[in-house]
Amino acid sequence: MAKALVIGNWKMNLDYVEAVHLTQQVAALLASRPAERVDVALAPPFVDLRSVTSVLEAERSLVTVAAQHVSDRDNGAFTGEVSVAMLKRLGITWVIVGHSERRTMYHMDDASVADTLKAVLRGGLNAVLCVGEDLATREAENHESFVNHQLVSALSGVEEFAERVTVAYEPIWAIGTGVTATTGQVDAMMAAMRLQLASLGFSSSRVLYGGSVNADNAAEIVTEAGVDGFLVGGASLKAESFGAIIHACDDCYAERR
Ligand code: PGA
Repeated sequence: MAKALVIGNWKMNLDYVEAVHLTQQVAALLASRPAERVDVALAPPFVDLRSVTSVLEAERSLVTVAAQHVSDRDNGAFTGEVSVAMLKRLGITWVIVGHSERRTMYHMDDASVADTLKAVLRGGLNAVLCVGEDLATREAENHESFVNHQLVSALSGVEEFAERVTVAYEPIWAIGTGVTATTGQVDAMMAAMRLQLASLGFSSSRVLYGGSVNADNAAEIVTEAGVDGFLVGGASLKAESFGAIIHACDDCYAERR
């Protein structure tokens, strides 16, 4: 059975005490109402990773853990950086690569995204590659070619790892703004991306949507826009809204277009 994937990207929120609390709440929520068609992951800040994996282990939860970023280097004199091997040792499953906040605020260019993706995949972890256009690119109607270029740039040369790659389409203008892309916009982009992904050898990759997803719009997006799940920011910081998104996916994924 194909499963959807819902990842909660906590960004730079929640210290380790708060992280433990929210993880316990999410694990309890899924224990009381399992979501059989959905893989669930939490992406806390680096300093919370150990606590979150420990709670999930203790609860025997199926929820997995993602890091929000990683170095493209193996080890050495890179002050402030964290390596793929360090994450692997902690029991981390996924790494988010090339989130638009890293691209725009921390000068992560396409080459750096590609290098980081390679490091993650060669190091044995799963990657969630983020792509998406800004508002000016959308208004100029260049969004499909822009995203296609991001896919080609990141994914060329890593076809052998295709089964460990998930892609998230996150239009920058919809992230944290409360403005969700319409289901028509998401659906059109999904179709364009799946064509491009197939031509690159990634036809089996799950394609997620991210950008102001919440408990009220999740079901409609899954049903109408042919997504394989969500990368959720703000709404993942409360167990109730994150749980509602997971259960909307669970209810609607089989019926999606
Ligand atoms: P948002 O963030 O759900 O708060 O818009 C999504 C993301 O940046 O992954």
